[in-house]
Amino acid sequence: MEPWKTAITHSYENHIWVRGKDITSLMTNATFTDLVFLLYQGRLPSPEERRLLDAILIGVADHGPGSPSAAASRLVATGNRQAPEAAIAAGILAIGDAHAGAGLACMEIIKDGLDLARRESLTIPDAAGRTVDLFLERKERLPGFGHRHHTSDPRTPILFKMASEFKLRKDGIEFMEALEAAVQKKIKPLPINIDGALAAVLHDMGFPPLFGKVMFIVGRVAGLGAQVMEEYTREKPMRIRIPVEYDGPPPEIKD
Ligand SMILES: CC(C)(COP(=O)(O)OP(=O)(O)OC[C@H]1O[C@@H](n2cnc3c(N)ncnc32)[C@H](O)[C@@H]1OP(=O)(O)O)[C@@H](O)C(=O)NCCC(=O)NCCS
Repeated sequence: MEPWKTAITHSYENHIWVRGKDITSLMTNATFTDLVFLLYQGRLPSPEERRLLDAILIGVADHGPGSPSAAASRLVATGNRQAPEAAIAAGILAIGDAHAGAGLACMEIIKDGLDLARRESLTIPDAAGRTVDLFLERKERLPGFGHRHHTSDPRTPILFKMASEFKLRKDGIEFMEALEAAVQKKIKPLPINIDGALAAVLHDMGFPPLFGKVMFIVGRVAGLGAQVMEEYTREKPMRIRIPVEYDGPPPEIKD
C-alpha cells in the first residue's frame, strides 16, 4: 500500500514535530492560538497575528444556550448524558449557512468582489454595489450580514480596530465595509455579523475561504463543551420539553 503523504505532523521514536517544530518546544513556549495558526498556515504567527486570531477564537466561542449549535448540543445532552462527544458533535452539525458558517461564503464573496474590481477596473465601492445587486437579483441573503439579536454586532468593530492597529487591515475589510454601505443603501441597514467580520479579517491574514467556517468550529467547540457540562451538572435528565401543537389530519377514532 502506498504511504499517506502529509506535511502536517511527523513522529519518530519518542519525538513529535508539528510542521517541523518539536511539540515539546511548542508546549513550553507557544500558545494554543500559535498552534492553530501553525497547523493551518505552516508557520508561527507574528505577535499581532496571534492576538487577532485569538480575538476571533474568543469572539466565536459561545453565544448562550439559545444559539442553534449550543441548543443542539444541549438537546442531545439532555437525553444522552454519557457522551459529551456526541453532544458536541451535534452542536457542530448545526453550523451552516445561516448560523456560524456564513464565513465561508462571505470569504468567497470578498474574493470574487475583489477579483471583479481588478478585472473590470472598478472601485471597491462599485464592486460591492454590483455584488449586492447580484444577490438582490437572485433573491438571496448576503452571508455575513444581519443578526437575530444584535442591531450592531459588538465583536465586529473590535476585530476591525485591532486589524487596523496591527497593520493587518487590507482590501478584505475595505470590501466588507463597502458592502455594508451598499447593503444599507440598496436593502436596509444590516450589521456585519461575526461571520462577516472574521471572514474579512481571515481574508486579510491570507487564509483561504474554507477557514471562514473552520475557525468558527475551532473556537465554538470550547463553548459547546461548557454548554454540555452545564446541562449535565445543573439540569435534570430529559428536562427539555418542546411545546408541540398537532395540526395534521384528525386522528381516526375507532369504536
Ligand atoms: C442571521 C439571520 C438569519 C437573521 O435573520 P432574521 O432574524 O430574519 O433577520 P431580521 O429579522 O433582522 O431581518 C429580516 C429581514 O431582513 C432581510 N435580511 C436579513 N439578513 C439579510 C441578509 N444577510 N441579506 C439580505 N437581506 C437580509 C431579510 O430578507 C428579511 O427581509 P423580509 O422581512 O423582507 O423577509 C439573517 O440576517 C441571515 O440570513 N444572515 C445571513 C447569514 C449569516 O450571516 N449568518 C450568520 C449569523 S451570525
